[in-house]
Amino acid sequence: MISSSPSPWLPTLLLLTLSLPILFFFASHILPPPPPPISLPDELDDLTLFRRASTVDSQPTHKPKSRLGSTNRKPKIAFLFLTNTNLQFAPLWEKFFNGNQSSLNLFNIYVHADPTVKTKIEIPGGVFTKDRFIAGKATHRGTASLIAAARRLIANAILDDPSNQFFTLISQHCIPLHSFRYLYNTLFELNTHQVAELRGLKYKSFIEIIDQDPNLWDRYNARGKNVMVPEVKFDEFRVGSQFFTLTRRHAIMVLKERKLWKKFRLPCLRPQSCYPEEHYFSTFLSMVDLDGCTGYTLTRVNWTDSVNGHPHTYYPNELSSELIYNLRKSDFVQPYMFARKFSPDCLDPLMEMADKVIFRD
Ligand SMILES: *[C@@H]1O[C@H](CO)[C@@H](O)[C@H](O)[C@H]1NC(C)=O
Ligand SMILES: *[C@@H]1O[C@H](CO)[C@@H](O)[C@H](O)[C@H]1NC(C)=O
Repeated sequence: MISSSPSPWLPTLLLLTLSLPILFFFASHILPPPPPPISLPDELDDLTLFRRASTVDSQPTHKPKSRLGSTNRKPKIAFLFLTNTNLQFAPLWEKFFNGNQSSLNLFNIYVHADPTVKTKIEIPGGVFTKDRFIAGKATHRGTASLIAAARRLIANAILDDPSNQFFTLISQHCIPLHSFRYLYNTLFELNTHQVAELRGLKYKSFIEIIDQDPNLWDRYNARGKNVMVPEVKFDEFRVGSQFFTLTRRHAIMVLKERKLWKKFRLPCLRPQSCYPEEHYFSTFLSMVDLDGCTGYTLTRVNWTDSVNGHPHTYYPNELSSELIYNLRKSDFVQPYMFARKFSPDCLDPLMEMADKVIFRD
């Protein structure tokens, strides 16, 4: 039928062809415009953005843009490794990232390694290839250089891949407490049976925000009395774990922020009561979008009997499956996903219980 009388189809085809530009016009005008390009504050101009090398993520991992400009990419988690020594638990993280083939396109890794340390930091290989290391600068404990490094990591991750939707800060002393899948499903609020479509929820940042602490007044005045006003009044000053998981929205807000950063980057008169990295992000986000924050971190730490502001460090003799189960337990909606601090020689025992305990959720 069709082949014998093609003529009635011709006008239809013609009409369709002619209307395509009109359709495109409407689509591009009705659909929301793409987000404006992110302009970074001057402080980040010195940022040498790393080139995406071809080794990692070289395959087109997501479907190409459809004609109407919509994308069909799954959101990813950006893991921001901040370190000034070797990534001692790289093999464990390798297992975490590579445990399930279906997770391979759901994360990106960025490493900020202090380039000035005496013992040059090794590139572990595997998922931690050279191109994952961003241009870093010196970092010193208890100084704003740690904020700067975190901002550098966030900036690289934001500009590198629009699919990065959560930004998780990790140190070389951190370990995972669950599988990647479990973390992913938790962050994106998927239950294990939902894999296809993500719910259009407004995600929250997992960042600890504490407003009552005996050290708060000292820390507030660590750069000199009244230095923080008017940008940060004392009753706006917050403390929280340096380790957070931020939403993309908050990550961009942090990068654009300059008022508070100007204050927090001032030198500390008393370094032992300053720790700007524990204040900047919590204070800023609580000021601008408290509702968008959970108020707690996903990274467990043990402050019992802390020495010189260092939390308890776990050694091999303390490791057991019970410890992992205990560290996961939280008073919040989600269990803890990461824990610190672990001594480097914990690697072997941790690897031994990786499949049976850590990555069994
Ligand atoms: C890998 O992830 C998929 C999707 O969540 C899951 O169905 C599957 O069981 C996982 N495989 C393993 C070996 O954990
Ligand atoms: C926390 O550290 C203390 C020692 O500093 C230890 O006795 C305790 O068992 C640790 N708690 C957990 C949950 O590991």
